[in-house]
Amino acid sequence: MNLVVLSGSGISAESGISTFRDTGGLWEQHKIEDVATPEGFERNPELVLNFYNERRKQLDDVEPNNGHKILAELEKDFNVHIITQNVDDLHERAGSTNVLHLHGELTKVRSEKYPELIYNIGYKEIHLGDKCEKGHQLRPHIVWFNEAVPAIEPAVQLVQQADIFLVIGTSLNVYPAAGLGAYAKTNIPKYLIDPNDVTVPYGQQYTVIQKTASEGMQELKKILLKLK
Ligand code: OAD
Repeated sequence: MNLVVLSGSGISAESGISTFRDTGGLWEQHKIEDVATPEGFERNPELVLNFYNERRKQLDDVEPNNGHKILAELEKDFNVHIITQNVDDLHERAGSTNVLHLHGELTKVRSEKYPELIYNIGYKEIHLGDKCEKGHQLRPHIVWFNEAVPAIEPAVQLVQQADIFLVIGTSLNVYPAAGLGAYAKTNIPKYLIDPNDVTVPYGQQYTVIQKTASEGMQELKKILLKLK
């Protein structure tokens, strides 16, 4: 059975990574237009590089939580595909093997001029003057606002093939990710795990488990194993 998951920053909250829109979230402390747009990078590249350097350093200090781990364990019983809006690598570090990053990855950088030149840098910093092999500035491998989301097409295909669809830890505020649920077949089980109320886009319907990612995944695992 294909279990397809759309995850957001809430799944990493219990690992100590801030979400974006909760109280105290990242977008309360930083302006989206300054640190997460191509225009912001043009205006002040150093500020943007430092913002992502900090995120990368923080990622090096945290660990996957039980939410990530239970999702990885479910690969024993289901064909699991995770579509994540997260730029962290906690799904992979928990052991998940099929992870599609919609909004890029913190541990990679790419050439500003040649987007196909992508480099793994792990948790290291990059600075102004760090160049690709063709001599152009490196930038975070992150999908910023006003940029295309190249992974959306394979994501849509995965959702269309889902036998079970799960949304976890996302406020469903950002498109096109928030619209993915509309591509799931109508008659399959659909679950949403979030400790807070989520306004679901029109036309999408979920069985809501109003718990944190780790508690909610524990409960969902029991439900899913009965569906097998
Ligand atoms: P948001 O900050 O918008 O939403 C986080 C969600 O996680 C909320 O619904 C919270 O209630 C929920 N949450 C909080 N603690 C949780 C916990 N312990 N367990 C489970 N859920 C919890 O973050 P996203 O929906 O991920 O994009 O944001 C989507 C995109 O907007 C991000 O990928 C990022 C951001 O701008 C870019 O930077 C391009």
